[in-house]
Amino acid sequence: MAYAAGVDVGSTQTKAVIIDEARKIVGRALIDTGANVVVAAENAFDKALEASKLEDDEIEYVIGTGYGRYRVTFGNAQVTEISCHGRGAAHMFPGTRTVVDMGGQDTKAIRVAANGEILDFCMNDKCAAGTGRFLGAAAAALDIPLGDLGATALRSTKTVRISTTCTVFAESEVLSWLGKGKKIEDILWGVHQSIAMRSAGLMRRVGVEEQVTFTGGVTKNIAMVKALEEKLAVRLNVSEDSHFMGALGAALFALDRIVASRAPHDAPQEVKL
Ligand SMILES: Nc1ncnc2c1ncn2[C@@H]1O[C@H](COP(=O)(O)OP(=O)(O)OP(=O)(O)O)[C@@H](O)[C@H]1O
Ligand SMILES: [Mg+2]
Repeated sequence: MAYAAGVDVGSTQTKAVIIDEARKIVGRALIDTGANVVVAAENAFDKALEASKLEDDEIEYVIGTGYGRYRVTFGNAQVTEISCHGRGAAHMFPGTRTVVDMGGQDTKAIRVAANGEILDFCMNDKCAAGTGRFLGAAAAALDIPLGDLGATALRSTKTVRISTTCTVFAESEVLSWLGKGKKIEDILWGVHQSIAMRSAGLMRRVGVEEQVTFTGGVTKNIAMVKALEEKLAVRLNVSEDSHFMGALGAALFALDRIVASRAPHDAPQEVKL
């Protein structure tokens, strides 16, 4: 049995996934990236190995992705996170035509063809206003753990409209609403609405075609799922593994390479990236 791995070194969190030849996930791990990107990649991979109960030498091919993909020193190759999120989403939800990846720093909108090929993409490369970082800034200002953000925001009964579009000013706006007596849940729901609006705008630039699959760490936030579904007026594909979608896509590309290397030399080989 051959095994393949994908390691997605994101700006905020590092994810590793190991799959078997049947493309089933046999191990996965998630850690904070922290300051040492090389060590983060190694630690996430080791933890995924531990979870899979496999040994290092049983993993035939490893692909690195994410912003730190060139720091996966034990990796055999690198593939961009756009390709990996597209591939992972198309594998997990075969009807996927649009992907929205919300991570710690960036939000990316990706259009994929029926075969998972990337048709177009767009990202907020200059501004973090529509991303997990904006949520993190609001959570810090309100002293709420990230994991409780979604449930708290969903208790809202009256939305507070957040006017700032800049992460740097998010904290002061949130605090000023708090000072004016607004409820924490209403402010938070307003923050989610603001992010959903910006993300929906980004997605419209590539075209929103159903099915829409949501990937990245912000999928863990139930209020963000709801806010985005309302703004787009579509149901989003989300699963327990959505945070691992980039790492899964990388592992699938790695498995392709293993299979291609086994093909007889005179047969045509095709590896799609
Ligand atoms: N349990 C959780 N509840 C709510 N939000 C969460 C949870 N876990 C992670 N997040 C959010 O997900 C973000 C990290 O997501 P992800 O791992 O996809 O980012 P990344 O890949 O490191 O970043 P990027 O792709 O922008 O480089 C965190 O910043 C946080 O906002
Ligand atoms: Mg990412």
